[in-house]
Amino acid sequence: MSDTRVSEQAEIKPVDAQPQPVYLKDYRPPAYRVTHTELKFDLSATDTQVHAALHLERHPDSEPGLPLTLHGEKLSLKHIAIDGQELQEGEYQVDDATLTIPEAPDRLRLETVVVIDPQANTALEGLYLSNGMFCTQCEAEGFRRITYYLDRPDVMATFSTTVIGDREQLPVLLSNGNPVERGELPNGKHFVTWEDPHPKPSYLFALVAGQLEKVEDHFTTMSGRDVTLQLWVESENLDKTEHAMRSLKASMKWDEETYGREYDLDLFMIVAVNDFNMGAMENKGLNIFNSAAVLTHPQTATDGAFQRVEGVVAHEYFHNWSGNRVTCRDWFQLSLKEGFTVFRDQSFSADVNSAPVKRIQDVSFLRTAQFAEDAGPTAHPVRPDHYIEISNFYTLTIYEKGSEIVRMLRNLLGWDTFRKGSDLYFERFDGQAVTIEDFVGCMAEVSGLDLDQFMRWYSQAGTPEIDAHGEYDYANGEYRLTLRQRTPATPGQPDKQPLHIPVRVGLVGTKSGEDLTLTLEGPEGKENLGKDGVLHLREDEQTFVFTNVAEAPVPSLLRGFSAPVKLRFPYGREDLAFLLQNDSDGFNRWDAGQRLAMLALDDLIAAHRNGVEKVMDPRVTEAFRSLLNEPSDDKAVLAEMLTLPSEAYIAEQQPMVDVDAIHAARNFVKQWLAVSLRDEFLSLYRANQSDAPYAPDAEQIAQRSLKNVALSYLMSIEDEEGVELARQQFEAQHNMTDVRAALTLLVHSSRGDIADPALRAFGEKWAHDPLVMDQWFSVQVTRPQSDALDRVKYLMDHPAFSLKNPNRVRALIGAFVGQNRVNFHRLDGEGYKLLSDVVIELNRLNPEIAARIITPLTRWQRFDEQRQALMKAELERIRAEDLSPNVYEVVEKALA
Ligand code: PHE
Ligand code: ZN
Repeated sequence: MSDTRVSEQAEIKPVDAQPQPVYLKDYRPPAYRVTHTELKFDLSATDTQVHAALHLERHPDSEPGLPLTLHGEKLSLKHIAIDGQELQEGEYQVDDATLTIPEAPDRLRLETVVVIDPQANTALEGLYLSNGMFCTQCEAEGFRRITYYLDRPDVMATFSTTVIGDREQLPVLLSNGNPVERGELPNGKHFVTWEDPHPKPSYLFALVAGQLEKVEDHFTTMSGRDVTLQLWVESENLDKTEHAMRSLKASMKWDEETYGREYDLDLFMIVAVNDFNMGAMENKGLNIFNSAAVLTHPQTATDGAFQRVEGVVAHEYFHNWSGNRVTCRDWFQLSLKEGFTVFRDQSFSADVNSAPVKRIQDVSFLRTAQFAEDAGPTAHPVRPDHYIEISNFYTLTIYEKGSEIVRMLRNLLGWDTFRKGSDLYFERFDGQAVTIEDFVGCMAEVSGLDLDQFMRWYSQAGTPEIDAHGEYDYANGEYRLTLRQRTPATPGQPDKQPLHIPVRVGLVGTKSGEDLTLTLEGPEGKENLGKDGVLHLREDEQTFVFTNVAEAPVPSLLRGFSAPVKLRFPYGREDLAFLLQNDSDGFNRWDAGQRLAMLALDDLIAAHRNGVEKVMDPRVTEAFRSLLNEPSDDKAVLAEMLTLPSEAYIAEQQPMVDVDAIHAARNFVKQWLAVSLRDEFLSLYRANQSDAPYAPDAEQIAQRSLKNVALSYLMSIEDEEGVELARQQFEAQHNMTDVRAALTLLVHSSRGDIADPALRAFGEKWAHDPLVMDQWFSVQVTRPQSDALDRVKYLMDHPAFSLKNPNRVRALIGAFVGQNRVNFHRLDGEGYKLLSDVVIELNRLNPEIAARIITPLTRWQRFDEQRQALMKAELERIRAEDLSPNVYEVVEKALA
């Protein structure tokens, strides 16, 4: 038996052997395909044995003569045989990333035995231990840390997996597909064999073993098949599964009704694990979830968490078709599954909650976080053309911008035709690994539209900017709208081509307040667009002429946020106040309010910088007064309307970010409104108080958010009655949404006399519940007071904190660096130093998380010189370390 023990520890790479990029243009089909994979795991914390038998055959499209090369990392090879014949030294080669067999036959059964160490796996990729439970994470390239394999998404095989484990320690043994056999073994062990009949790439493989309890339910599919649904959790979490199970059933039904997609196995399982890098993973038949994305209870989870769980459960379930049945040819096509699936989960959440609020929230997120990414050093196209480390590309651009592109296709085609395109895509490519061209090709085919120019959305990075201006010609009753587009240069892409941008518009009559009928002067004569229509901007600059415009209009542009662009129009403040009142498009009415607030904030930011007195624009106060006095919207939308743009969003709008001025200006507006409209906010609070038993439904959620928005205004001026209401709300302990809102407002105020005992009580009450302690961490480290950084350091030593758990890292470090802008950007550089210390440590423990948490440091270009220097110095300090490919790629881009 050969023993080629390789790479137990991560190797130290020589400086000249820096990680190299992979290019899309180099894609080649694999030399071999795997028709069937048999796996046998003998689980042990430090020495798990993995026995693999791969049924391989030469790929018909591969170049002849290519050797058989398998991926493999951190594996200790114990045995290797072809068709039962042990391989001799010299017949194969092993290095730290591959196993090569130069003279393999065209058809073979390759057997290997490797030993792996799940307990030492802190990267949480491959097979690892979480709270004594074995679990796997294979996307994107984790399977190669389990066994030697053709670990690429275009190699799809059926799997048969036997899991062996200690009967007492590991009573539950799960993998993909259906359980076909189970039994007892000597030495107190037992086994279960699972068969997955659907060919799948290795990234969808999953295994879970541990002391788990299940909640079970059933779903009858549209063709009348019964599917068993199981949610597996640790016993103390059994009371937190109801909402996820309900969401799962709703998702299954929605996908049948909306996309005609039916589930295809008899069993669907979800497992909650505590240590997980991302939100969740769509492994075939066995979804693995970060416990934060599946567990909820009214006493422990906020409304936001309930909605997130609903969305993530739907997202992973929807992947069963958009991702699993039809998968990606290579990782450059990642948005093929992620963009489409985010679009599907956003539509689902819109259907089951408040649709306008869902759109407002999704767009806010896109415009702050994704736009910032697209404007920074890590900007990349929705389909990148190269990468060093694919796990760095699970980004807002791939997911959120990718979803916006699919949404534009839906809008260009109309729902019915889009659905036909989707049906064609699933039918034609079922069981295959395909490309973005294949998807868009189906949409072009069913619609007859030419989508060639549209494809640039996938290849060009950067957020397009549209400068719009309009002129009303009284004499001729014409309105001329000129749109000029430009996409800024991004790293590696200095020159951009014009995109095909759908711009939904309306013209709102200034006298009537109504949408005017749109008659567009086109090359083939007049075209009637109704009251709201889509303009197709394809050139650098285009003028659209509307005729028969009976009264002077205010244009309502980019309705529903019809394209992921920045649109500028020289609106006067009266125009915005007018749109806020009259726009028939709910999204644009909200956006008019945001634009109006932004104009006022711009003035105040300038005043703060110049050290002159801050003067509030009375039009903003009046707009808020009318929202409060004559509420015309549903409560959910009203709560959004009353929420000021976040500091992060305001920062995105500034040429140079002045964190202190932004913070001061926003506080000033908030306090001004609170003082001016104090009684209105108070009665809004009271009108939305309720002791009804908690339910995470749209009606109640809207009520709570409205009430808590009102409370936040009152607390911004520490109004005595407001403080008392916050105290009572905390004491009542009615549900976590209200408790957390009150606690946050108290902790972020100067009322330590109330906040400190409340924090203490909360921390003691929930010491046993890590997901609640995460909220306790976040609340404290986001406080604007100058002691926040010391709190972070202090809490890093708290027994409930661990750098090894990604949720803890996000709750404590992520919240501080991402949400506490004034303190992270302290002028003494201590915030930056804290982050780089954490990155350096995580680089060793968990490179994926290290490469994500570092993001705020990479945005140094946006700040003043002093901060730039401090941030760059920290990036240099990180660069001097022995870096994982993940952190290396990000730091190199940031300093390029
Ligand atoms: N594919 C997962 C999703 O979006 C995300 C994920 C990627 C999870 C990589 C883990 C690792 O649903
Ligand atoms: Zn996904």
